[in-house]
Amino acid sequence: MDVLIEATIPGIRKGMSTFGIEEYDWLSLLGPSTVSDHGDLAMACHSLARVLRKSPVDIAENICTAITPHLEGVAQVTSMNGFVNIKATNSWLSKRVTEVASDPRLGVIKSEIPRTVAIDYSSPNVAKEMHVGHLRSTVIGDALARILTYQGHTVIRENHIGDWGTPFGMLIEHLLDLGEAEAGDELGVGDLDSFYKAARGKFDDDSDFAARSRARVVLLQSGDEETLHLWKVLVNESTRYFNEVYRLLDVLLVDGDLMGESAYHPLLSSVVSRLSDAGLLEESGGADVVFPGGHLNREGEPLPLIIRKGDGGYNYATTDIACIIDRTERLNADDLLYVVGTPQSRHFEMVFEVCRMADLLGEEHRSEHVNFGSVLGSDGKVLKSRSGSAVKLVDLLEESISRATAVVDEKNPGLEDGEKRKIARAVGIGAVKFADLSNDRTRDYVFDWSKMLSFEGDTSPYLQYAHARICSIFTKANDSDWLDYPININDHYEARLARSLLSYRDSFESSARDLMPNRLCTHLLSLSSAFTSFYENCPVLIAEDPEVRNGRLRLCDATARSLKIGLSLLGIEAPERM
Ligand code: ARG
Repeated sequence: MDVLIEATIPGIRKGMSTFGIEEYDWLSLLGPSTVSDHGDLAMACHSLARVLRKSPVDIAENICTAITPHLEGVAQVTSMNGFVNIKATNSWLSKRVTEVASDPRLGVIKSEIPRTVAIDYSSPNVAKEMHVGHLRSTVIGDALARILTYQGHTVIRENHIGDWGTPFGMLIEHLLDLGEAEAGDELGVGDLDSFYKAARGKFDDDSDFAARSRARVVLLQSGDEETLHLWKVLVNESTRYFNEVYRLLDVLLVDGDLMGESAYHPLLSSVVSRLSDAGLLEESGGADVVFPGGHLNREGEPLPLIIRKGDGGYNYATTDIACIIDRTERLNADDLLYVVGTPQSRHFEMVFEVCRMADLLGEEHRSEHVNFGSVLGSDGKVLKSRSGSAVKLVDLLEESISRATAVVDEKNPGLEDGEKRKIARAVGIGAVKFADLSNDRTRDYVFDWSKMLSFEGDTSPYLQYAHARICSIFTKANDSDWLDYPININDHYEARLARSLLSYRDSFESSARDLMPNRLCTHLLSLSSAFTSFYENCPVLIAEDPEVRNGRLRLCDATARSLKIGLSLLGIEAPERM
């Protein structure tokens, strides 16, 4: 609980002044307690034994005696086995939780040094099906965009779609073979994979088609108008389909966020000249390359980053360097985040390194590959559809909504149709998002319908249901007498709930700092469970004393708002009825 650390430090400082230990040295020993029964904070005294020439047990006792008078009213201090344990008093908890409940942001503060953050996320490829990896990128990137915006940063969303390169030669030729209208129909319903596969098949089997495709790439690169028009048809049809997925998923991405590879095309030659001016460009096997150092191939030789191929074509990496120039120089971004799967780690390491060598990224920039693992099926292998092909995202999302409809139906059969549809959508989409976000993003996770849609496990339906249940308490209460009531913590379950409400800020800040939405998820789950035990053990509406009733209603209200805001930061809706 950072708020407790802040509240106790002045008192601890006074008490510690007689020990002759630098503040820096004792401060680093103070942290959250690992055994919650012992206290909220603990100071481990073992490392002080050598300096003070006493046993840790004696040191902890001495420190306990010295700081106790300075923490009166704030915390109780005890010592045990060489640890000083600090536990917030109920009166301090009451005061702080009342403040937090009165704050629309529930104690989450805005950053004092707001930054401009470019988040590269979703980034599917034109005329190719979005796969589950793109789903992860979209969901994680969107949550981070919301979290960082809430923290007060300026967030620029960048949807770096793959809309340029040699495959477009064959895609355009295939489009011409089909006729524009028919191709549009096929792509418009999201049949991107079969379109791509058909083009690929012809390219591999038909040498005439392959030759036409190659010539088409040249036309595209040279800006031939007719070719650009056909290319635009492909891009528009695909982005229309991507938008459908985004709308279904309820993410922030809009057309204005599209910043595909093609947008950087005009900058590529200047990438070459800037790297060459920096003295970094070398010739290797006919290509222009940079050796970022530290990266070796399988044979143990230095691995180059290829900037311009022998045939004059540019690479994925060249475009990414152009992106960095654009984001730092035109958009003035301080932080560059890339929400992309782990297999691209080496690519980003090399690109960042080359940019640092060329001074395109400086000390003031943070560039980070926000990597993530794979989504696995129940067989432990990368998720595939029943037919064995890549899972189509719209199908997956629609299936989730239809499964959620059945679940909601069972829970609350009396709901009116329109409301039921809305709730099922919130539950179905929330379940998919939460299952993804609640895992440490760097790990793989197993996609499991029954687990993610359950109202009992560590799921979003569980959180949404907890929220709706609290809303129903207020429908029953049907008054606003509680609004400005002070909260009085007297009971163990009240105290546990108050502690959880007070640590919202810590988990939010840690999620934002390390770009780990799962920490916020974990917090919301433990808040819900603290609420459940509170509600089972502490009568609210039937409490006899109005002070108790109203104070407890405020605890309920703060919990509901924490859940609602927390879920919204993850891009998940919290319906008031379920
Ligand atoms: N389109 C790429 C893919 O599907 C992801 C692009 C990620 N962003 C970037 N700036 N490289 O793998």
